[in-house]
Amino acid sequence: MASTPTTLDTARQEAFTGRMVDLINNAGLSLMISIGHRTGLFDTLAALPPSTAEEVAAAAGLHPRYVREWLGAMVTGEVVELDPATNLYRLPGEHATCLTRSASPNNLAVVTQFVSVLGGVEDEIVDCFHKGGGVPYERYPRFHEVMAEESDQTVGAALLDHILPLATGLTEQLEAGTVALDVGCGSGHALCRLAARFPNTQFHGYDFSEQAIRRGRARAAAEGLRNVTFEVRDAATLNEPGRFGLITAFDAIHDQARPDAVLAGISRSLAPGGTFLMQDIAGSCHHHANGDRPLAPFMYTISCMHCMTVSLAHEGMGLGAMWGRETALDMLTEAGFADVTVQQLEHDQMNDYYIARREN
Ligand SMILES: C[S@@+](CC[C@H](N)C(=O)[O-])C[C@H]1O[C@@H](n2cnc3c(N)ncnc32)[C@H](O)[C@@H]1O
Repeated sequence: MASTPTTLDTARQEAFTGRMVDLINNAGLSLMISIGHRTGLFDTLAALPPSTAEEVAAAAGLHPRYVREWLGAMVTGEVVELDPATNLYRLPGEHATCLTRSASPNNLAVVTQFVSVLGGVEDEIVDCFHKGGGVPYERYPRFHEVMAEESDQTVGAALLDHILPLATGLTEQLEAGTVALDVGCGSGHALCRLAARFPNTQFHGYDFSEQAIRRGRARAAAEGLRNVTFEVRDAATLNEPGRFGLITAFDAIHDQARPDAVLAGISRSLAPGGTFLMQDIAGSCHHHANGDRPLAPFMYTISCMHCMTVSLAHEGMGLGAMWGRETALDMLTEAGFADVTVQQLEHDQMNDYYIARREN
């Protein structure tokens, strides 16, 4: 059968080619911004008056040849300004507000680190496109480190003052004292914040990553916390009927191999009247409904190259980060939660907060 001749809209073609060029430049800049964060270069620049490349390198304690090349990317990418008459570089204050450690929780340089975390497994993901299967957690360079840094500055920073109050009476319950569990606790940052604030409550963290659990224990020990424990556990085997007054899951349900079993175990393990607080990515399970979300392509990328594939690596459901509110609500109902509300925080359009109560 002969193919149908098509006429190309040349203006559209040129516009898209231009967009591709921007995209390639921005991809390079993302990597360099990640390096700028890890080496402390943005923090150094923010603290310096306009300076030469050599002065910037000396102040950061870095090799000047590398710093000069990095500055080339930053200047041509319009992140850093250069005065050609004096050869002095400066980071505009407006740019520092989303690039430096002191700008946290608005430090977007933290997020750019995911680009190289995902790039580290690109070959294996390409293999999966051909053969199926998945890439397990342990193949990712620096995943737990970057995840902890990112979630601590977003969810962690808002936890006590904004997230807990979403569930009526929860703060008071934790003050009085209960037993709480964080499922898929990662490096334990959220748990340690909770344990420090609520000394009458006993906190437990389960995660199947030994590396993450080691990090959690180290933080708890460094902070001298006695009311928090961490255990290497597969959340799919959770079965401690009626034990917990609160169970939390921060960004930790959609990438499970068996999220259905995990949610059923959570429902079973709550005490009567207990609360399940689940933070997960805001979105819809329909591609067309996510077009307006500012970071939708990035979230589908993280999903394909991490959340979905780590689940498929264990022959799991592979829900992915964009499983959507529709799927989440269906699965919570199937797990036995009758009373579920979904809330959002004004400053956090990325996440949905589900409050699910176990009936008495
Ligand atoms: C996206 S990370 C979120 C970590 C942490 N809650 C945070 O917000 O920083 C998901 C976590 O779930 C853990 N996880 C995945 N599958 C698990 C399972 N079957 N049992 C226990 N933990 C699991 C991973 O090791 C990882 O630490």
